[in-house]
Amino acid sequence: MLDVMTIGEVLIDFTPAGRTAEGNEQFTCNPGGAPANVAAALARLGASAGMITKVGKDHFGALLHETLLNSGVDVSALSLTDEASTTLAFVHLDDDGDRSFSFHRKPGADTFLRPGDVPFDEIEKCRILHFGSLSMTHEPARTATREAVAKAKEAGVLVSFDPNLRLALWDSKEEAKQHILWGLNYADILKISEEELSFITGSTDVEKGSLMLRQQFGINLIVVTLAEKGCYYRLADADGYVPGFRVKSIDTTGAGDAFLGCLLYRILDSGVPLHLLEEQQIIGMLTFANAGGSIVTTRKGALQSMPTTEEIHKQLETKTRNEDKYKPGFHFSPPSHWMNDPNGLVYYEGEYHLFYQYHPFGNKWGPMHWGHAVSPDLIHWEHRPIALFPDEHGAIFSGCCVVDWNNSSGLFEGSHGLVAIFTHADTCPKTGQPRQRQSLAYSRDKGRTWHKYEGNPVLAEEDLIDFRDPKVFWHPQSERWVMVLVAGDHARFYGSKDLIEWTLTGEFGKGEGSHDGVWECPDLFALPVGDSGRSKWVLIISIGDNPSIPEGSRTQYFIGEFDGNTFINDNPAERILWLDYGRDNYAGVTWSDMPEQDGRRVMIGWMSNWKYANETPTGAWRGAMTLPRVLSLTSRGEGVVLTQMPVREVEQLRKASESRENVTVMAETPFTLQTSGDLLEIEAEIDLRSGNGVQIRLKSSGESETRIGYDAEREWLFVDRSNSGLTDFHPSFACEHGARLAPVNGKIKLHIWLDRNAVEVYANEGLVVLTDQIFPDAPIERVSVSTGSGQVMLNSFHIHELKSVPFPNGAEEKPSRGNDA
Ligand code: FRU
Repeated sequence: MLDVMTIGEVLIDFTPAGRTAEGNEQFTCNPGGAPANVAAALARLGASAGMITKVGKDHFGALLHETLLNSGVDVSALSLTDEASTTLAFVHLDDDGDRSFSFHRKPGADTFLRPGDVPFDEIEKCRILHFGSLSMTHEPARTATREAVAKAKEAGVLVSFDPNLRLALWDSKEEAKQHILWGLNYADILKISEEELSFITGSTDVEKGSLMLRQQFGINLIVVTLAEKGCYYRLADADGYVPGFRVKSIDTTGAGDAFLGCLLYRILDSGVPLHLLEEQQIIGMLTFANAGGSIVTTRKGALQSMPTTEEIHKQLETKTRNEDKYKPGFHFSPPSHWMNDPNGLVYYEGEYHLFYQYHPFGNKWGPMHWGHAVSPDLIHWEHRPIALFPDEHGAIFSGCCVVDWNNSSGLFEGSHGLVAIFTHADTCPKTGQPRQRQSLAYSRDKGRTWHKYEGNPVLAEEDLIDFRDPKVFWHPQSERWVMVLVAGDHARFYGSKDLIEWTLTGEFGKGEGSHDGVWECPDLFALPVGDSGRSKWVLIISIGDNPSIPEGSRTQYFIGEFDGNTFINDNPAERILWLDYGRDNYAGVTWSDMPEQDGRRVMIGWMSNWKYANETPTGAWRGAMTLPRVLSLTSRGEGVVLTQMPVREVEQLRKASESRENVTVMAETPFTLQTSGDLLEIEAEIDLRSGNGVQIRLKSSGESETRIGYDAEREWLFVDRSNSGLTDFHPSFACEHGARLAPVNGKIKLHIWLDRNAVEVYANEGLVVLTDQIFPDAPIERVSVSTGSGQVMLNSFHIHELKSVPFPNGAEEKPSRGNDA
């Protein structure tokens, strides 16, 4: 009894092999054929697999027979014919190893497979029957295939189907489609490419297309292969993406078959019926399959390139190592999967809460949940179960939390508790347009469990498509809650006595500041201006990516007054104040309900940029937060401006320090320090009166270096990450960017934090800040300070090696969708 039988074509692929000295093209003879490859992959991994097929009584037929046999595939159901020659295919590879084919099959021996050649009794006894569409292009193989599949189905054998669309082999597109649809009716497991999915469903959206197939055919497991990006799966009640592996691919032939063979192997190995497999199990299987597929692309040919279990495990380990390479040492990042904006920042009963935009089933943006973490000190975070799940009103977009101290909402039965105010995002059934409405959830147990408010949504504006990211605070002067949120090109202000009924009180922003992108994630608060005794209001507005703006998404702020109803800008409308001059600080907002005796206004931002956030090379996890920063206002010649410095709690990260004073750096004598850790904090006071500038290079043990520089002539501070390591995942990533920074008495002060995935540069006590992701090829191990001409004096230079912070999972029950959140 065999585990798996595959039915269909086996053939010879002739793959290009350079040219002869005379310039003639040469080809290597590579056995292949999708169902044969799948059988070989399974046999390689240790399953028993047999192949039902037909070859010609010729040299190539004999070769295929021998190759299958040597690959461990059972060939008792391989028959021979002299009605036609063995099928041949010539493969043409482009520069990326992608293929096209020319087939020699008019007819080919495999199309002469007859029902009489099919061992139906063996099929009944096996666990999986796998087939494709190519054995249905011509009779009699079509009938033989159909009868085999029908028999398997009848006997309760799992049926696996790969449409494997090759239009050149069909008389017409319609015919191909009709037979693929026949196959779909029988499939329990479907492996399909994006092109095939759009050919069948007309949809280029894998999520929609796979849903259509699921609804029409009830297929238990649909897997859409996405080449090097990995794959997408759809089960009865869950779906998601599983990232692929970065490898140097030379020939993609057979990669999909290896993928499928690996997947079938793991399904068999688990012994669990398909409909009982848990999502995490499927993700594990698909990761294994992605690894198997990627290995095959690094070798020429198909059938004989199938990976072993050891090779796959090695690939998995390398990936884990590479992913861990960029896992931050002290910046907050999610346990796995995708994260964007910080949400619901609130301090309550001794804990800082950090919620965040989270896609728990993929490493790209997707259906938004609120992830959750808590901390006693803003540095050590403990991961908690997901706080808010999407529901009948849609996904959970950004928003805030407040403490309802006086039970103004009536949700806390005479006590107090946390209220989350967030955007519910779905599609309006009437117009088909995206719809964003504001809703509430509350927690009576310090944010451990959440209940959605029954009357959700509490605030809707029918005509506004972009209407989101509420930030709420108590405004004692008007004795009500104030909500600021964004509506495309402006901010709106609403007032409420109970957090439930909201009234529009004002608008601000049309024609003010930057409108390079849609307005998002507002925040509004008052801060003292230095020790002047007066205060000003700060309105924070993040602006989304715009393909024509190289900076991508970034954050601006306004200084002015808030009269309880609206914001009044102190500066001319055209004046733009940027929060951060690096590329990776977005959607930052501040903690609510900081204790009065603390008094700090602390902000944290998402350390990425919508321009390339979905592409950063971190693998199964993606996204980190900036360091938490204290915001202050200071008065300068040009008016009141924000400054920011990391919270003092980061000092506890220091583990070893080294200090130098009065070091003279000249062009020919740079100052270099070897470091023994790659998590660093550097403080430098630099006197530039006799030099034209300074460069601080953070060098890896490999080739990469990130440059932090100051051009004294232009009074320009910059970060150059064009050679910082992995940069090719997006054309905008490799860049140099900076900001004006005036020296003070001929000196500048730099305070730098370096993590495995980022560098944060604070200049002159946080007057100018640059926050940037970097992905060095190897750990950073050298810091060098140099100058172009003249000399600079390092009045002081402190370098601290920093501790890595563990981010443990809180000991708690598993997240479940069972509760009403
Ligand atoms: C900002 C943003 C918000 C939105 C959220 C969705 O990054 O686009 O406006 O609420 O992300 O994840």
